[in-house]
This record gives sequence, C-alpha cells and structure tokens, in this order.
Amino acid sequence: MNKKYKPLFEAVQLPNGAELKNKFVLAPLTHVSSNEDGTASDAEVEYIGNMSQGVGLALTAATNVTELGKAFPGQPSISHDSYIEGQKRIARSMKKNGAKAILQIHHGGVQALPRLTPNGDSAGPSPITIQSFDETEPHHSREITENEIEETIKAFGEATRRAIESGFDGVEIHGANHYIIHQFVSPHFNRRTDKWGEDRYLFAMRIVDEVVNTARKFAADDFIIGYRFSPEEAETPGITMEVTEELIGQLVEKPLDYLHVSLGSLHSDTRAGKYQGIERIELLHKWIDGRMPLIGIGSIFTPDEALEAVEAGNVDLLGLGRALLLDYNFVNKIEDGKEDEIINAFDPEREDKHGLTDALWQQLNKGFYPVPRTDK
Ligand SMILES: Cc1cc2nc3c(=O)[nH]c(=O)nc-3n(C[C@H](O)[C@H](O)[C@H](O)COP(=O)(O)O)c2cc1C
Repeated sequence: MNKKYKPLFEAVQLPNGAELKNKFVLAPLTHVSSNEDGTASDAEVEYIGNMSQGVGLALTAATNVTELGKAFPGQPSISHDSYIEGQKRIARSMKKNGAKAILQIHHGGVQALPRLTPNGDSAGPSPITIQSFDETEPHHSREITENEIEETIKAFGEATRRAIESGFDGVEIHGANHYIIHQFVSPHFNRRTDKWGEDRYLFAMRIVDEVVNTARKFAADDFIIGYRFSPEEAETPGITMEVTEELIGQLVEKPLDYLHVSLGSLHSDTRAGKYQGIERIELLHKWIDGRMPLIGIGSIFTPDEALEAVEAGNVDLLGLGRALLLDYNFVNKIEDGKEDEIINAFDPEREDKHGLTDALWQQLNKGFYPVPRTDK
C-alpha cells in the first residue's frame, strides 16, 4: 500500500467497544434484487458479499420493517420472523471478510408504493399526493393513525430482534431520504396538530428508544446502533440545518454508536438560514463534538478524495456508494497498492456488469443515478 493511504486503514473503535478494521463504510444501496416477496435472492447474497469485502462497516439496502412500509420493488424485508432465514444468508455473506454487517431498517411512510403494499395502502404523518422515485404516476398517501404510529415504533423493535437473530452486528435506523422518520421530522411532510406534530422529533426518539431497549434485551453489548439523517430539505418549509441542529442535540443524548449523514456531496454547503454557505459536514462535526463517530459520504470517487475527506477531520468514517458500485474492489485495490487499477466509470459493455445484480445494472445503465460513464 502507498504509505500515504495508511490513515484510511486505521482501526476504529465504536462507543460500545465494537472494532472496525478500517474507516471505509459500504453505503446502504437499494438493489431492487430481493425476491418479489422480500425474501433474500441468491443474486443479492452474492452481490452484497462482494460489496462488503474491503470495508470495516457494511450496510444493507433499506429493509422494510412492515409490509405497509414497502417502497421499492425487490426490496428486502424483515417484517416477519419468516425472513430471518434469508437474512442470515445476507449477514453471513457480508461478514465473511471481516466487515461488521449492519441491517438498515426502513419504512417508506408516504413513499410506500400502493402497488407493492397490502390493499394498495400508503400512509405517513400527513396526507399527500406524491410521485415516488422511479414511479411514472403520483399516488395518494393517507394520514397514519396514532395506533399505527405505535405499531410502527414496535415494528422497528421487532425488526431489531430479527436482525439480532439473523446474526447482524447491528442496525441502522433509516431516518433519511424522505422516508417515514424523516417525514415526521420534516415541516414539509408533517402537518399534524397532535403530539406527533407538536414535537417533530418525538417519533424519531421513540424509535431510537425502542431499538435501544430491544438490543439491550436480546443482543450482546457490542451490538451496533446507528442513525442516518438528511440534514437539509429543498422544500420550504422543510428540514433546515437549524432543525437538524436540534435533532443532533437529541440524538447525541442517546446511547448510539454512530450518526450517518446522507449527502450527495460531502462538501456541500448549507442552502439557507443562519448557516447559509457553511459546509454542512463542518457544522455536523461541530455539533456532535466527538460524542459519537460521524459517517460522512458523498461523491467520493478516488482514493485521494477519500484521504482528503478523512484528513480534513470532519468525518470519522467514510461512506462509499457509487464508487463501490463501479468497482467493489475499490478498497482492496488501495490496500494492495493497485489504486491505478480502480474502475472509475460505468462501462455498459463490460461483460462482468461490474459485478452488479441484473436489476441494479439496468438502473445504472438507464441513468437513474448519476455515475461517470465511458460512453458519455
Ligand atoms: C443505487 C443507490 C441506492 C441507494 N439506496 C439507499 C438506501 O437503501 N438507503 C439509504 O439510506 N441510501 C441509499 N442511497 C444513498 C446512498 O447511500 C449514498 O448516500 C449516496 O449514493 C451518496 O453516496 P455516493 O456519492 O458515495 O454514491 C442509494 C444510492 C444509490 C446510488
């Protein structure tokens, strides 16, 4: 290995004592490749094993905790005990080269797709007509009842118990990217006048507590619990960095092992408000103040960009999404001193299809996610 990359390969200890072999994190990446009923497919098990092999911490695709929360075709599920057998295969595949395997637990809320849920239902904090990612038509989503809110909180706990039984090293609470937890925090999505609207952080905090209590009951002390959030929304009113400052203030009081920001670009600036123009990652680092590790992410495509991100000091761990989709050996190649062999553009002619599942390869080929390409 080129010596300069050594800082990327230093081990990291999480607050609960769990040790990660390096600072790289496999980002949670929806692969639309589970079986139609949400059980694990052979293709998915092989793909996620490849993607996890170099990193210290590996996250699964968003995995729904209830059938009402299903937001993608081919989405993995952990909504019943019957999913545990397949999830065991996923966890084993992710762990085989030393990564800690984390199940990302998710509910789509208003983004759940009626064509995939029981009785064509979809529900979130407030009624809305919305066009979900990759859908051609908008759908209507109703207001979730208080009873269902309590059931959903319990479902995150049940999902955690199943993750433990499946052999995962931890769970990540998916509070980002406009799904249900994000929706409750967001003034754009949450227009309720009951206690769930008056305190926009309540739903998120109740879920954290439920997950923590479940882990205390069923898991070893080094079971990892992380929380992912999106710091700023485009909508007005929407989540601002001021809202996120309050959210972080509450999250750092919880016994979490890391926070994970969702950013398209690690160095993006605050859009509006009193922090306008300041790098979001810099603010987050300041607000967390070393109380738990922060995973930073966003448009890191080269080893030097990774090094620069870690050396700048605002992130403790570094997430890679598209870089690993293009070359799942990205981390291994740096470690072996072969960084000049990293595949850094999508090549539709490659026979190995970058090692992706067919469904994921097709999404990338159609341009759903912006990636550098050889043919453009
Ligand atoms: C194909 C694809 C699927 C994604 N699925 C998820 C997901 O299931 N859960 C999640 O929190 N983020 C998801 N994201 C966002 C990524 O985790 C990550 O934040 C984003 O790709 C930016 O990182 P990158 O620039 O390294 O790709 C997805 C992104 C891509 C490209």
